Amino acid sequence: MTWGGIVQAIRVPDREGRVEDVALGFDGLEDYLERNRYCGALVGRYANRIAGGRFTLDGREHRLPVNNGPNSIHGGTVGFDKRLWAAEEVRGQADAGVALRYRSPDGEMGYPGTLDVTVRYRLDEAGRLTLDYAATTDRPTVLNLTNHSYFNLAGAGRGRVLDQVAWIDADRVTPVDENLIPTGALAPVAGTPLDFTSPAAIGARIRADDPQLKRAEPQDGGYDFNYVLNRPGDLSAPAARVTDPVSGRTVECFTTEPGLQFYTSNFIRGLPGKDGRTYDHWGAFTLEAQHFPDSPNRPAFPSTVLRPGETYRQTTIYRFFAA
Ligand code: BGC
Repeated sequence: MTWGGIVQAIRVPDREGRVEDVALGFDGLEDYLERNRYCGALVGRYANRIAGGRFTLDGREHRLPVNNGPNSIHGGTVGFDKRLWAAEEVRGQADAGVALRYRSPDGEMGYPGTLDVTVRYRLDEAGRLTLDYAATTDRPTVLNLTNHSYFNLAGAGRGRVLDQVAWIDADRVTPVDENLIPTGALAPVAGTPLDFTSPAAIGARIRADDPQLKRAEPQDGGYDFNYVLNRPGDLSAPAARVTDPVSGRTVECFTTEPGLQFYTSNFIRGLPGKDGRTYDHWGAFTLEAQHFPDSPNRPAFPSTVLRPGETYRQTTIYRFFAA
């Protein structure tokens, strides 16, 4: 969709060739305007949270709309997920896709600089959905783009993802405080329910009595963490893989980004979705390739600053197949 750069559906065959739509979404534009939830959307200018809705760049403080407790999330009240993008068809030898463009004016949602963003989606015959992002600015700014697709490999609206098996190539996460803002530490996952360095069912430890799981979802527990990828910038190997053992449907994520937000749709409960189906609590997961949350206030984290003359680039690939 040109509105929000949204991926509305991803249809994937299982081992027997039975196709299910594995992406959460809605039937039409009206539903997206009403329910949104960033389903399938391009998120910017800054995906994830910025503490207190403020940051300082080159000695100057910038204030952002606060839309998540005390924080600014996903670019503010009207982020890139709620903007109209210009679309142009792109066609390669073995792929087809669309290039989306958006010019974000200087000062939009409190962010400095006129930002020109291009996101190219390509789908190829090997089942790869490739997202190439590029952006330039005319004033120093901060930037953190992602795609916010929610997946359920059994099919969107076909129950919970608790039996789907996740592997994430990350020995550490950025642990969070009670507002889901990073404490600044890079904490090892070894010995905690956050460890997916060996494949594990998403639901195996989701209810564990763990302070981080309870912060992410105080009622029942849940994953909502930025994983610090072990091989940042390495597109040659997957950063994460999730498989549905019943259907065999699998998604792999490859990315140039240093972080991956793994989120188990903790804040969704009984959301009416496409085709008359309803999305459950824990009914999907996200693999949001990104820089770390609140980086503009964390000089020790990889930088999200973009200056005039530089080009922001990101490539993220979701590969779908049946194992
Ligand atoms: C965040 C969640 C948030 C969700 C909104 C995710 O990127 O990590 O905390 O609730 O986006 O859809």
